[in-house]
Parts: sequence; C-alpha cells; structure tokens
Amino acid sequence: MEQNVIPTILQAMEKKDQVTLMHLSKVQQFINLMIPKLTEKNIISEEDIADLWTSAILHDVGKIFIVDDLLKENKPLDQSQMKNIREHSMKGYNFLRLQNISHKILSAVKYHHERWDGKTSGQYPGYPEGLRGFDIPLYARIIQIADSFDAMVAYRPYKGKKSIWCALKEIREYSGTQFDPYISQLFIDSISSCGLSLM
Ligand SMILES: [Fe+2]
Repeated sequence: MEQNVIPTILQAMEKKDQVTLMHLSKVQQFINLMIPKLTEKNIISEEDIADLWTSAILHDVGKIFIVDDLLKENKPLDQSQMKNIREHSMKGYNFLRLQNISHKILSAVKYHHERWDGKTSGQYPGYPEGLRGFDIPLYARIIQIADSFDAMVAYRPYKGKKSIWCALKEIREYSGTQFDPYISQLFIDSISSCGLSLM
C-alpha cells in the first residue's frame, strides 16, 4: 500500500529540489551495494530489503518542507540555518506518519541523523533525540553512513567533493563515535570491493 504514495512523494521532491532527489537516489544505490553483506551477516533478512530501500529513498523527504532559500544556499550555513535544516528529519517523520508507511521506515526517517555515541553538540550533533548505540533503529544506523558518505563524495559549491577513498577513510575515522562501528566496516568493505566502478 505504501508503494502507491512513494512516486507522488518523489515527484514533489523533484519539483522542490533536484539535488536532494539525486542524493536520495545515490544513498539508495550505496545501500544496494551493502545488501549482500547485510544479508550474509544476518543483519537484515530478505524481507527487510524492500523496507530498507524505501527508507533510503525517503530519508530526507522532510526537505520538501524546508524553505527553498535554505536548501539552495551556496554558502556554508550559519547556526540558525543549520537548526532549521535539521528539522527535516522530524518534518519528514510527521508527514510520512500520516501516510500508510511502516513503523520501521518511519523510524529510519526520524533517526537517520542520530550518532552512535549519542553526542548532541559540536559540528555534527546527533538529532532529534540524542539516541545512542543500539537505541538507534538499525535502518537509521545503516542510512546514516550511506548518507554521510554521499554528502562527502557529492559536489556542492560550498565544499567541493572528496574522493571515494578519502570519504571511506573518514567513515573509518568516525566509526564508533558518529557511526555504528560494525555497520561502518561492512559499508567500507562493500564500497571498497566495487570502488573503481563508482569513480
Ligand atoms: Fe537527512
């Protein structure tokens, strides 16, 4: 049933901001590359795959409700702008819970910016609730890594872009603080094994 609303939501996203739509698609592709290892290690089951894909393609849907000027800003955002943009996870959750979307997908959307260490201060604070470790739902922990990786390797006028290998090094560096250490390693292994085809 939820599949029926997804094309409509993505069309709205395309009208709002094509950069975010592209990001959603890239995150879904990176997660696709993780699926063999996620299933092989029994982290997810075959039945989870469709929900994980859906979570990936919807995770930033709350950006539909963020003002255009902020989404399309070409300079680094100030603190008040960051505060506004960080509302996208709750806005996405509040919007999707009015649709017929499963609880697992809703949780992924709501919590994909939480940090493994539960830290809620600094340049990259966890939000919206400061959950930590295994309190963060599994799909959110998976998406957070693919999401951060795409943010590093995608070009933005205000930050350039990192190479795949440099971005993987950062995922390793923040494994255990920002990211779930086990899923981080699995992500690094999955992307490394097909890294050349991503370049
Ligand atoms: Fe996000």
